[in-house]
Amino acid sequence: MVRKKFQKAKRIIMKKVIGIFGSPRKEGNSDILLNSAIKGAESNGASVEKIIIRDLQIAPCNACGGCWEKGVCVIDDDMQKMYPKLVDANGIIVASPIYFMGVSAQLKAFIDRCQAFWARKYVLNLSIREGGRIAKGFFIATAARDTGEGLFAGAVKTIKAFFHVLDTQYMGDILCVGLEEKGVASKRQELLQQAFDAGNKLLY
Ligand SMILES: Cc1cc2nc3c(=O)[nH]c(=O)nc-3n(C[C@H](O)[C@H](O)[C@H](O)COP(=O)(O)O)c2cc1C
Repeated sequence: MVRKKFQKAKRIIMKKVIGIFGSPRKEGNSDILLNSAIKGAESNGASVEKIIIRDLQIAPCNACGGCWEKGVCVIDDDMQKMYPKLVDANGIIVASPIYFMGVSAQLKAFIDRCQAFWARKYVLNLSIREGGRIAKGFFIATAARDTGEGLFAGAVKTIKAFFHVLDTQYMGDILCVGLEEKGVASKRQELLQQAFDAGNKLLY
């Protein structure tokens, strides 16, 4: 009985974090670093759900303008299950490889479908979350090149715009160079630690 009450109370106060995994490469560099960030968030009491975009059917936005009516996307695919998760979240962690100076195509399709939130906010003057609640987020990006000069600028702007539309404060990023082959991030202890710490601190 006491245990049940405790579990219920824990569920009520538990903060929700979603980890959005944007690479098509499972167990690759962004996957490894995202997992570390998720562990960090969980170790601080958050309930974390990992969203694996490559396993979802998400069509790109077709600019039909349907969302201007009610702030809801009219395309019937897996994105419909994602919208409530984005609204419910207290924290959002996004991880993506750098592809041609931007985020992966899979992640970009996911983000573009958030145009429905843009319509909700800026066309219909509706809030994203009840009471105007703001979430917190950060970005992990992995790239093969050895120097970061200009490499992450496009991706960071995209994620900042995504967070802005979602009323999510951009808390920072972990921008990783020199990660080419699959899985080499597991040998970069300093990056694993940075990701863990960022996840751990995200909501506090
Ligand atoms: C289609 C494609 C485009 C890429 N473009 C870049 C790039 O512009 N700059 C770069 O440094 N690395 C680029 N890379 C390398 C990846 O960003 C890098 O290997 C990254 O660590 C992959 O992350 P993942 O293992 O999570 O998929 C590209 C890789 C692919 C497959």
